[in-house]
Amino acid sequence: MVIPLDEQTAWHLIERYGSPLYVYDAATLISSANAIAQSVPKARFFFAAVTNGNIHLLAILRRLGWGLHANTPGDVFLGLKAGFLPQQMVYSGSNLSLEEMRKLLSERVAIINFDSVSQLKLFSVALKGSSFVPRIGLRVNVPKLNRASRIGVRPDDFSEALKIASNAGFRIEGIHFYRGTGMNSTEAFTGAIGELIATARLLPDWSFLDFGGGFGYSYREGRNAFVWEDFGKALVEALPPEIELFIEPGRAVIAACGVLLTRIVSVKYHDGKQILGVDTTVSNLSVPAVHGLYRRIHSFSSQPPSYKTDVCGNTTFSRDYLGRDVDLPALKEGDLLAILDSGAYGYAMSSHFLHRPRPAEVLIEGSDARLIRHREGYEVLIANQLL
Ligand SMILES: Cc1ncc(COP(=O)(O)O)c(C=O)c1O
Repeated sequence: MVIPLDEQTAWHLIERYGSPLYVYDAATLISSANAIAQSVPKARFFFAAVTNGNIHLLAILRRLGWGLHANTPGDVFLGLKAGFLPQQMVYSGSNLSLEEMRKLLSERVAIINFDSVSQLKLFSVALKGSSFVPRIGLRVNVPKLNRASRIGVRPDDFSEALKIASNAGFRIEGIHFYRGTGMNSTEAFTGAIGELIATARLLPDWSFLDFGGGFGYSYREGRNAFVWEDFGKALVEALPPEIELFIEPGRAVIAACGVLLTRIVSVKYHDGKQILGVDTTVSNLSVPAVHGLYRRIHSFSSQPPSYKTDVCGNTTFSRDYLGRDVDLPALKEGDLLAILDSGAYGYAMSSHFLHRPRPAEVLIEGSDARLIRHREGYEVLIANQLL
């Protein structure tokens, strides 16, 4: 289990920047990015900014040689702010408007993967008069692999897609495959490789395979995590050497480096269960409430766990639980908790639901810790309202 900061540092940061507080550790981010990249040496890696859009974290990955994967024009905007060049970006979104396609063209985003034949038709319109033509791929929907997914173009529709491309004067060079997020089974990915290659061969100009994200991360102690080495080996063995390989991990790279620190403001016991009230809420870290996913919660205490504990947010929303049935020692008001593995889909999914402004964000780099995003004040709640 990675706990990217010690108790003394945690208290120091809370005293300096207040609570609740997102804290990221650069060394943890760098080591997980390097471990992933080394396991598939042939690939170009593009970090999926959907998981965390803080430009200071994006810039760390850029300096490691990663590109940026964009899901929306907002991701492209953040990527450019973090110093990525458009040729270091791949866009694999869904349901773009004509204006958004024109914007991607004017920004010269290098690679775009489209999600439907209908989007390709619209792209032919967007392309008129553009001096820049990106490399184009198709997000694929292979019935055997994608089952009920809404994403992607079915192989049966490839001939129509190719006709549209040929009429508009561009080539379809790539296949993009997205497994669905948080998949810990390596086999769910390696088992798809053969079918994907066979599908890609239907494209006469096939030159790249883009393996989207979805790679799992072990949030629970002792649970199997996705095995990058096995995935890399299977992929490199199967892929024709002339085909370029792109990979777009999000969660697997950045989950471990982030924690949400929060202070306990209330303690009570119900039928032997410890019920802790903390100064943050599921709108600051919506993942447990929205997706029902588990996050490890660390108390920094040297005492062994003695209570099943619910960690409850500071609202009366009935689903305001940051953790349920967590094993923790007896704790008291003022103690500190760290909600671990919060680097992915943490701040990025936070919202103003419940009208609690968002926490600040701090980055630890070696012995230095600095603020990388201000804490919001209540003014944010009326920011765009007409007064
Ligand atoms: C196309 C694409 N690639 C990559 C990702 C990142 O996924 P994950 O965080 O599961 O790796 C996403 C997430 O939505 C995505 O839609």
